[in-house]
Amino acid sequence: MQNNTVYLNGDYLPLNEAKISVLDRGFLFGDGIYEVIPAYNGHLFHFEEHLIRLENSLAAIRLANPHSREQWSAILTPLLIGTQDQYIYLQITRGTAPKRDHGFPENTPPTVFAMCSPIVPMAERDSGVKVLTMTDSRWKLCNTKAITLLANILHRQEAIDQHCAEALLIKDDYVTEGAASNVFAVIDGVLITPPKSADILPGITRDVILELAQKNAIPCKEQSFSLAALQTASEIWITSSTREIIPVVECDERMVGDGKPGAVWLKMNQLFQAYKQSLA
Ligand code: PDD
Repeated sequence: MQNNTVYLNGDYLPLNEAKISVLDRGFLFGDGIYEVIPAYNGHLFHFEEHLIRLENSLAAIRLANPHSREQWSAILTPLLIGTQDQYIYLQITRGTAPKRDHGFPENTPPTVFAMCSPIVPMAERDSGVKVLTMTDSRWKLCNTKAITLLANILHRQEAIDQHCAEALLIKDDYVTEGAASNVFAVIDGVLITPPKSADILPGITRDVILELAQKNAIPCKEQSFSLAALQTASEIWITSSTREIIPVVECDERMVGDGKPGAVWLKMNQLFQAYKQSLA
């Protein structure tokens, strides 16, 4: 169940009472950033890494961080409900200025909003999903977790319209990431994911997978790969905090591997689930 209590600018209040002005710059300009932080067994998962990414996103849009790490922990922890798998959505915008003006407003406090929702495992996780590749139409700040997600949602919807779970984005012939996920492929027996750059969001799930692969002797590397190379992959996965690790069994209407979740995914998913539980 969705937690009915949300956090808005210093108050905890029922979701339907949380209101912001139509002059909020998040509403008018998409002028803000966000984080999605999972929690397992009542603990925020890799909280420090999420806070570092939050700090980087704030710095990228030149917005001062309104809270210390200790304050963020104190603000977000009360939103958690029991020990179910859940995630915090946290959004910070440049606040509500007296008039609409592109330039940054002065003396305007940011708007801080947070809510908590359950992580519902994707029904198709164990059987795999279909994806569609398409030209990445996004901007040059893809490593910033900006709320300005119009290109991402148009990509995702194009995939949904074709009965696919995700769009895999291609820039200059190279695979970047999904519309709301990072991408991994097993090519010639090696687990590969594109390196961090301004073309992708540095996913926390991505980092955890790389760490688990290294610790468990699964050959892996961070390396760019082309669409042509993707088409030779024996496995493809998409990863994110809310979907975890999802195997892809069809890409552009072509079967991936033998059309079933692969052995490397099975192993990595087991490692990931065990790792989550170990952090209790
Ligand atoms: N999105 N790339 C993009 C473009 C994303 O939007 C996301 C996550 C990721 C994966 O990052 P992480 O592993 O830290 O969740 C990669 C979140 C879940 C969202 O927008 O809801």
